[in-house]
Amino acid sequence: MGLRLGDEAPDFSAETTEGKINFHEWLGDSWGILFSHPKDFTPVCTTELGTVAKIVPELKERNVKVLAVSVDSLDDHIAWIKDINETQDTTVGFPIIADPEKKVANLYDMIHPNALDNMTVRSVFIIGPDKKIKLTLTYPASAGRNFDEIRRVVDSLQLTAEYSVATPANWKDGDDVIIAPAVSDEQIPSKFPKGHKVIKPYLRYTPQPNK
Ligand code: BEZ
Repeated sequence: MGLRLGDEAPDFSAETTEGKINFHEWLGDSWGILFSHPKDFTPVCTTELGTVAKIVPELKERNVKVLAVSVDSLDDHIAWIKDINETQDTTVGFPIIADPEKKVANLYDMIHPNALDNMTVRSVFIIGPDKKIKLTLTYPASAGRNFDEIRRVVDSLQLTAEYSVATPANWKDGDDVIIAPAVSDEQIPSKFPKGHKVIKPYLRYTPQPNK
């Protein structure tokens, strides 16, 4: 059975391009994104890591740390980072785990042998400050991930952790949000003083409370 939402993110120690880390200790009070890429020196992975490098400052603003993993060696990672920096016009400023023994890959069920033999698929885990898994995604090797979407889910998770709201389809930071069904009509004015709209008794919108 793979990891499910609400499970504790398994802890581990690993060698990374930024030294040895203990995962939970490294996360501290931050949110975390742990993501696997299948192989070093491959085209889609190169664009993905370059894309993540560019959004690291925005993730830092959100108190999110990023950690990549692949089953290649530390020497390969270090050589490949030079290529990523050069071709993607960026600087990789987050650690990449060297996992040649597939310790982390197996712990997080990132190897799907019917899809890819002996390397990880494109897995993503978003982990909360409570070390619980808040999101899982699994993409095939042929489809590079949309990291704008992953950042968008971080925004939604952080908002809904603080307020009794949910975010509608295609929601973006700043859009109106849905008032959680657990909030009674009577509670709305005190909880959401910016106002609200009732479309149906179960579909009630309010401006994003933290904007
Ligand atoms: C890629 O990143 O381009 C890739 C990696 C492994 C298998 C297929 C594609």
